[in-house]
Parts: sequence; C-alpha cells; structure tokens
Amino acid sequence: MDKLVITGNGPLKGEILISGAKNSALKLMVACLLTDEPLVLSRMPNLADTRFLSELLASLGVEVYWPRGENTCHLNAATLKTTIAPYEQVRKMRASFNVLGPLLAREGHATVSLPGGCAIGARPVDLHLQAFEAMGADIVIEEGYVKAAAIRGLKGAEIEFPFPSVGATEHTMLTATLAKGVTTIKNAACEPEIEDLADCLNAMGAKISGAGTSTIEIEGVSKLNGHKHLVMADRIEAGTYAMAVAATGGDVLLRDAPVEGLSAMIESLEKAGVSAMPEESGLRIQRAEGRLKPVDINTAPHPGFPTDLQAQFMALMTTADGESTIRENIFENRFMHVPELSRLGAKIQVKGNEAIVTGVDELKAAPVMATDLRASVSLVIAGLVATGTTTVSRVYHLDRGFERLEEKLEACGGKVIRETE
Ligand code: EPU
Repeated sequence: MDKLVITGNGPLKGEILISGAKNSALKLMVACLLTDEPLVLSRMPNLADTRFLSELLASLGVEVYWPRGENTCHLNAATLKTTIAPYEQVRKMRASFNVLGPLLAREGHATVSLPGGCAIGARPVDLHLQAFEAMGADIVIEEGYVKAAAIRGLKGAEIEFPFPSVGATEHTMLTATLAKGVTTIKNAACEPEIEDLADCLNAMGAKISGAGTSTIEIEGVSKLNGHKHLVMADRIEAGTYAMAVAATGGDVLLRDAPVEGLSAMIESLEKAGVSAMPEESGLRIQRAEGRLKPVDINTAPHPGFPTDLQAQFMALMTTADGESTIRENIFENRFMHVPELSRLGAKIQVKGNEAIVTGVDELKAAPVMATDLRASVSLVIAGLVATGTTTVSRVYHLDRGFERLEEKLEACGGKVIRETE
C-alpha cells in the first residue's frame, strides 16, 4: 500500500494543468451503452475509478481501447455480452450502478447489484428506482440485486425529485434518451457535470433541453449514434489545488480550470483574503503574506459550495485567524478528516453537521490516515503547511480521484513523495 510523505516547503508557484472531471467521465463512459457505434472520450482522467469502470464495461461486452497513461478512451458497445453487473464490481465503486438505466433502455432488462452504503453516508438509490418505475419499468429487489425489466420498452414520464440528486438526475437523463415520449425531470440537480453529459448525449442524437437548470426535458429517440467528446475539466480538482495554494501562499495558474463552475468557492476564497482571478487560460490563485480570515461555509447543491470541497476548505481554515463554521448539508458522515486534521494540531469541534474550526498559528507534522477521497486530499493540503514531515497512509483513496497529484504539486515546489509501505 502506498503512502505520501509531505514536507512543508513554503509557497507553491507555477502552473497546474487541470485533468478531466472524474464525476463527469464516469457518466459519459456509461453513455456508450446507449449506442452500437463508438464513443470516444478525450481528456479522460487516468484514475482508479475510471479504469475500474472501463473493466466493468468490458465485462458487459464493450470493446475498450484505452492504453495505460493515455487520455483518450475508445468505447464500442456494438454488441453486449450480458446485462448483469455483479456485487463485486458495483461494491467497489458506486458509480457502476449507473449502468442499470442504459442497459434497461437498450436491452429491456438489467440486473445490477445495489451499491450499498459508503464511508460518507448511507447513499440510497431510491430516487433512481422511482424514476425508472415512473417510466414503466418493473423493479424487484432480490438478494441485494435490482432486477429491472421493461418488456414493452420505457415510456416518458414526469418525475419530480424531493431534492436535487446529481446521480438520480444523470441516471434518469441517460435512460430517458431512448424512452418513448417526453420525460420531464423537475427539481433536477444543476451541477456542471450534468450539462457536460447532456452535451455529449445531444451530440449523439438525443434531444435534451434544460440541463444545468432545475427542469430538464428529454424527448426520447429510437437510436443514438457515436461521437467524440472532450470531458470537461475537473472543478473539484481545480478547487483542491486552489485551496493548496491558498493554504501555503504563492501564485499558481490552474490551467483549464472551469471557472464558471467554481463561483461559490471563489467567493469563499476571496472572503478569506485569497485572490482568485479568472484568466483566459484558467484561474490564477495568489495569496500574499499574513493570516487568512475565517470564513463560514454551508455545503449545498450547485451553485452552492460543493460538498466535494468541504474537507479541503476545512484544512484551509485550520490556520485562519479566528473561528469558522463549516456545515455539511449533503452527506450525513463527511467529517472523517476531523480527527486526522486534529492529529496535526488543528482545533475542530464537531456538533452534528457543524464543525467549528478555531484557527491555530501553525500545524505540526504527524502520521495520518486517509479515509475517503476528499478527506485524504485535505490531509495533503494540511501536510503542505505543517512544519515537519507528514505521512498520509492509505492513499488508494486519493488515487480514485486525483491524477498525478504528487507530480502536479512537485512542479510547483511542493515536496510530496510517494512511498510503498
Ligand atoms: N440520495 C438519496 N436517494 C437517492 C440518491 C441520493 O437519498 O436515490 C441522497 C444521498 O444519500 C445524498 C444526497 O441525496 O445524501 C445527494 O446525493 P447525490 O445523488 O446528489 O450524490 P451522488 O450522485 O451519489 C455525486 C458525486 C459525489 C458528490 C455528490 C454531490 C459522482 C460519482 N459522485 O454523488 O462525489 O459528492 O454527487 O455533489 O458523481 C466525490 O467525488 O468524492 C463524491 C462523493
């Protein structure tokens, strides 16, 4: 198992190229199941999660051509071998569950394992299943598997979610492209990744309007065609490096950062005293000398502050000049980084979904452990500002969502070395 050895080395300076967005790529890859023509995705992030999904797709019969280290992935679902996705595969990565709707839409039936809970919360899939039932699917849950069938095909439906769910919105949108008639999703999630997916599906021949707003309309078509799509740049990766620069000080251009998707974070960084300036080629983050100001944040569906940047922002606030309140409103258990940040000297008190962070003068190095993807990278940020050498173990969590993290930080002067334990 790998660990990262991080030595505080002062301000970060230079340029970081932002990779393709994991959370967009995973849904775009699944879109290949809706057509018998090739789907080619460029700016594909090389991550444990995307590689894992490519293996699952291959096991369903998709021809996958994606040489190691390359950022273009060719997917061809001309023929499918099976419509069953077993527990061993779905358990490892929740996004695998999204193969259910496209398989159902194309083949009329699918059997996919329930994903189960995960470290950050219970994360049920009830809204996904309700949407498919509304579209005429028969759903049975047996021995941990969802067995879905729509013998006479899916039909358009009006679906209103009780709250915006990114996954349920994307999964319904994917599935409705091949249903008969019009599907309307009300109270849809508005995340930029949903727009990216809709753009790709529309280029494949789907008829989707309103993606990126709370009402999405999908007019079903009988067939989708192949396409070559550029995956959007990762706003969470960009936000994470923005926070690393804000924490250490310095001046870094985040090349290709999707600025429009980062407004809530930019606003919070500016309140903290960090400059986040959009430029033609990306987002420039600069922090001058002096302590950061404390800033309260509330995670919320887009365009609110993203839950996927909450841990990183908390790491930043650990050395601010005063007290900040961080409220997590999306997942019920997303404060696992708190005890680890405390090992580095942070002062944080958790009450329910609220963490009160009292800024300290400095963090001090310690061995810490990664518990989930975003929590692990918050420890890397804290390690970059701590005095001494911090080791972060169990970095396989981090490898699920950050492409060449050590390399990107090292190019800007960060001392981050990967070692095998
Ligand atoms: N929820 C339900 N029922 C459902 C679906 C969701 O109760 O059927 C609940 C969830 O348990 C959660 C809330 O609704 O409390 C929001 O969940 P959502 O469906 O919006 O999240 P998701 O689709 O499961 C995606 C990202 C997450 C990101 C969230 C919120 C992917 C693969 N995952 O998850 O990313 O935090 O949206 O923006 O796109 C990460 O990358 O680290 C990560 C966890």
